[in-house]
Amino acid sequence: MKLLVIGSGGREHALAWKLLQSPRVSHVFVAPGNGGTATMARSTNLALSDPDALADFVKKEGIALTVVGPEAPLALGVVDTFRAQGLKIFGPTKAAAQLESSKDFAKAFMVRHQIPTAAYQTFTDPIAAHAYIEAQGAPIVVKADGLAAGKGVVVALTSREAHDAVDAMLGDGSLGAAGARVVIEECLLGEEASFIILCDGKNILPLATSQDHKRLQDADQGPNTGGMGAYSPAPVVSAAIHARVMREVITPTIEGMKADGIPFTGFLYAGLMIGDGDDATRPIKVLEFNCRLGDPETQPILMRIRSDFLEVFEHGVAGTLNQSVIDWDPRTALGVVMASANYPSTPRVGDSIAGIPAAQSDCVVFHAGTALKDGVLQTSGGRVLCITALADNVRATQQRAYDVVKSIHFDGAQYRTDIGWRALEKN
Ligand code: AMP
Ligand code: GLY
Repeated sequence: MKLLVIGSGGREHALAWKLLQSPRVSHVFVAPGNGGTATMARSTNLALSDPDALADFVKKEGIALTVVGPEAPLALGVVDTFRAQGLKIFGPTKAAAQLESSKDFAKAFMVRHQIPTAAYQTFTDPIAAHAYIEAQGAPIVVKADGLAAGKGVVVALTSREAHDAVDAMLGDGSLGAAGARVVIEECLLGEEASFIILCDGKNILPLATSQDHKRLQDADQGPNTGGMGAYSPAPVVSAAIHARVMREVITPTIEGMKADGIPFTGFLYAGLMIGDGDDATRPIKVLEFNCRLGDPETQPILMRIRSDFLEVFEHGVAGTLNQSVIDWDPRTALGVVMASANYPSTPRVGDSIAGIPAAQSDCVVFHAGTALKDGVLQTSGGRVLCITALADNVRATQQRAYDVVKSIHFDGAQYRTDIGWRALEKN
């Protein structure tokens, strides 16, 4: 059977790699893909992005199932387009994808369904926004309502920074239409975790837990990024916290979407802030919803899946996820992102990459911003590679991943040396 994966990041390389392990999958097309999916056996890149053009290709090629990686095509309605033509695709409709594509939609939804999240207000008028910041004081968080490719959130430690963010978004239009409306919310403290589930509209199948590292530099210093590394499982999500997240966040979200007439299908990612205290009572609040898998969380999570992932998607599309079980490798998986020079502000592209080893059962180098130019592998984006390893414990996994990181070279490479530090601290 042939499959299509939409997207071009490390997440999509990992999805294609995992799906190709199914004995029933003969070939995977990746649109548009990257240097990794271009060079993987039984994988072909496809220079298409328009939903109608993709649907035409799927029909012509006889592709059985499509999986969507990133948020942008979901927000454009690729799932609606495919379904209208009777094509199987796993992801949320355009309406359901608003949980990610509009922060105001997500916040109003959470309030309506009593899902715990930071107190907030939404503004289009800068004067009212400035007044709210004055009344609340700092620290405070300013968020663009729309999709802003990871640049839409300002965690302001002073009210000056918050006022500046409002001026940039509402005044200067620095983020265009995405920032024409802002959500201003309470700053939450604690430890973040990524909680990702699949849903077929009614049945919920949780994936293994994970934790991302958003800041560019070691010890969580420097600017926010799309994620500089991740690992799974995340020890902060104990069995007790897991049960509470399912009860307090995930189930009411899925039930709420159903009640609102926009059932959620696809991956739902709740970015959580877990406050201090004991597991029975410590606050758990939703920082954000994404309507897709996380990147780089996907890379370590998929390394731990021992079952046939194709079957999970088939259940997802058929509405039978209650019959699906995932066999998890109990070991720890950990991914270290290597990013290009000047990431995240203005990533440099065109540097040649050398030293990537062949995939092994305990370490795979997933590509993100890479491209083949005249047969040479080059950097083509901000996050370039995610070196993902699997071993018995966090320390050994770190060791394995970093040994490979050190064997890879491209000019200006940036990476953190402490991915997994919170898990090490807990052990
Ligand atoms: P988001 O795109 O909403 O996930 O925000 C990106 C990052 O900003 C999150 O991963 C957090 O590190 C941080 N953040 C977002 N909202 C808050 C908040 N209310 N309090 C503290 N940090 C936040
Ligand atoms: N790693 C965070 C995200 O995918 O949004």
